Amino acid sequence: GAPVTMDISALGEGQRLVDEWRGQPIWVVKRTPKMLEVLPTLDPRLADPKSTTDQQPEYARNEMRSIKPEISVLVGICTHLGCAPELVAEIKPEPFDPEWKGGYFCPCHKSRFDMAGRVFQGVPAPINLLVPPHHYENDTTIVIG
Ligand code: FES
Repeated sequence: GAPVTMDISALGEGQRLVDEWRGQPIWVVKRTPKMLEVLPTLDPRLADPKSTTDQQPEYARNEMRSIKPEISVLVGICTHLGCAPELVAEIKPEPFDPEWKGGYFCPCHKSRFDMAGRVFQGVPAPINLLVPPHHYENDTTIVIG
């Protein structure tokens, strides 16, 4: 499929922009400084904190999993059986997880991911949410594909 251009100039902190590329939902989320602060602290609880073992672009192999720290670009499909995870941006009490710090929750079989799409240990999803191939055309324009 053709590349998809996304204008993120109006994207506010904590907000998500949704588009579609090759029939897949693409999420662009502008993370808050607080969301970014939490990410490195989650590493011990994650299955693959640096995205080393799965198929990810080079710029996704770090804790932020992004080119620009604040902007997260993800394929919005659970890596278990393909359901749509929900964005849970706020700290939630149980039954999610008493230590929940926000991220993505898949309602189908309760897989949890952090705000970088990194999967927690002990859930059915085998790998982190995918980061699609993308680049910045300019400061506020992302090209997916
Ligand atoms: Fe998401 Fe099974 S499809 S946990």
